Amino acid sequence: MKTITPTSRRASRTNKPILTPARDGHGNGARSARPAVSAGLAKWLAKPKRNLVGGDWVEAASGRTFEVFNPADGSVIDHAPDSKKEDIHRAVTAARKAFEEGPWRRMTPSERGKLVWRVGDLILRHADQLAELESLDNGKPRSVARVADVPLAADLFHYMAGWATKIEGNTIPISVPYAPGARFHAFTAREPIGVVGQIIPWNFPLLMAAWKLGPALAAGNCVVLKPAEQTPLSALRLGELLLEAGLPEGVVNIVTGFGETAGAALAAHEDVDKVAFTGSTEVGKLIVRAAAGNLKKVSLELGGKSPNVVFKDTENLATAIDGAANAIFFNHGQCCCAGSRLLVEQDVFDEVVAGVAERAKQIKLGPGLDSDTQMGPMVSEEQLRRVTRYMNQGKQSGACFFTGGGRAGDSGYFVQPTVVTDVKPKMSIVREEIFGPVLVAEKFSDLEDVIPRANQTPYGLAAGVWTRDLAKAHRVAEALRAGTVWINCYNIFDAALPFGGYKQSGWGREMGHEVLELYTQTKAVVIGLG
Ligand code: NAI
Ligand code: MG
Repeated sequence: MKTITPTSRRASRTNKPILTPARDGHGNGARSARPAVSAGLAKWLAKPKRNLVGGDWVEAASGRTFEVFNPADGSVIDHAPDSKKEDIHRAVTAARKAFEEGPWRRMTPSERGKLVWRVGDLILRHADQLAELESLDNGKPRSVARVADVPLAADLFHYMAGWATKIEGNTIPISVPYAPGARFHAFTAREPIGVVGQIIPWNFPLLMAAWKLGPALAAGNCVVLKPAEQTPLSALRLGELLLEAGLPEGVVNIVTGFGETAGAALAAHEDVDKVAFTGSTEVGKLIVRAAAGNLKKVSLELGGKSPNVVFKDTENLATAIDGAANAIFFNHGQCCCAGSRLLVEQDVFDEVVAGVAERAKQIKLGPGLDSDTQMGPMVSEEQLRRVTRYMNQGKQSGACFFTGGGRAGDSGYFVQPTVVTDVKPKMSIVREEIFGPVLVAEKFSDLEDVIPRANQTPYGLAAGVWTRDLAKAHRVAEALRAGTVWINCYNIFDAALPFGGYKQSGWGREMGHEVLELYTQTKAVVIGLG
């Protein structure tokens, strides 16, 4: 499943701090100089990192830790508990105790909502440091984390806080044909599911923690959260803020570790009532199998190979070109909804592809903490290898690399923003999720041609459409088999807007009020009135 094991991942690192410029002659070689972190963050990094279990910070049962890397230079920035089955068991036990016996269930919805709101406030209060930490651990530009990841995470908690007081059942008039004359009062209540395991990825570490925790808490569940092994730090910092907000002990437990050990143990644990996962479709299928043991509920937000369709009648071609570049290059292409398949109407194909390639060349690569960086490194050496492997497969199968096509620099995990043309449907770069800044561009002739091609993927997470023809925009939006369709925009997210996948892109919807379906269950209560 994985290309390298945790052990080989550790062994294969180099700790070279200096990044060397790319040799490609483009303007986007990785830049030099190791950025200094702020004094506050340096102090936080110096503290030993522990799991949050039952309100206490504890080491892994084995006492072991794993290394946490700065992907801009491969250096070790911290260590986090290397948790295994026993640690997961302790965390699940703490969550169960908090759910069954703690004050959490006795709190009023209003009190619960205020706590969730306070988490959003604390995220905003510490926004600068959280953005810095996220940038250091994940590699994304600090400026992006500061305007996107961190405020979106805060907003999610604020939005979900409001739902705590609005989770309602119904009064239901019932007839009961076999009890003539009898009278009943029947109603439904929506109750929390119980103990929820949440497994999140590394592309938006803090934001994914927020997407998962916000609704689970608003609905009154208790949680064991496992952040990705590549980026465990912002979740641990968030754990501190959850305690500062006043969340009772055991309501949220945070356990760091690898997917194959900690993650698998959480998905399989017999006392977990539900597992929520975001990550690869491959691991999503493993989660479903692991969940079968006690038939825990499952929600999944998985991969994508999202089409972005540009018609020649788009209002402004330059805007569509900017949109297409943003769709693939935002977050270095490490987005489940990345617009990685650009489908362009043939008359404007050359102009659009040249425009996107031009923008790709202008992107300034560098460490996320550098103020002028527009694109940081891939999150890990493993991801760098995965993306460059796809590029090599594309070259071997005869695709044309219009721009980019390889690693940038020879230190840190940088890759060149890449645009590929002359592809065939069978090529792996066309069919599979690359999760890097690699755009595959294809021509189409008309609406009838493009719709089946846009849908020709096992995924169905998102899609983009660029046209000023309103009727056409609606027809395409209806025909696309995707959980989100952006028209004349891309990558627009909001806490109020449901997000999730058709087909193999997942089960269920995150955010909006729809996510509450994933974190509540309905109880029907019938009272005999004689
Ligand atoms: P992954 O699916 O292995 O990792 C995501 C999370 O799942 C991490 O917390 C990991 O520890 C955990 N995990 C891994 N194996 C597990 C298991 N057997 N049981 C339970 N939990 C497990 O993704 P990875 O390997 O980091 O990236 C591989 C590819 O997955 C990427 O190239 C990309 O295509 C896709 N991906 C999609 C994401 C999305 O947002 N939909 C996010 C991250 C990766
Ligand atoms: Mg890292």
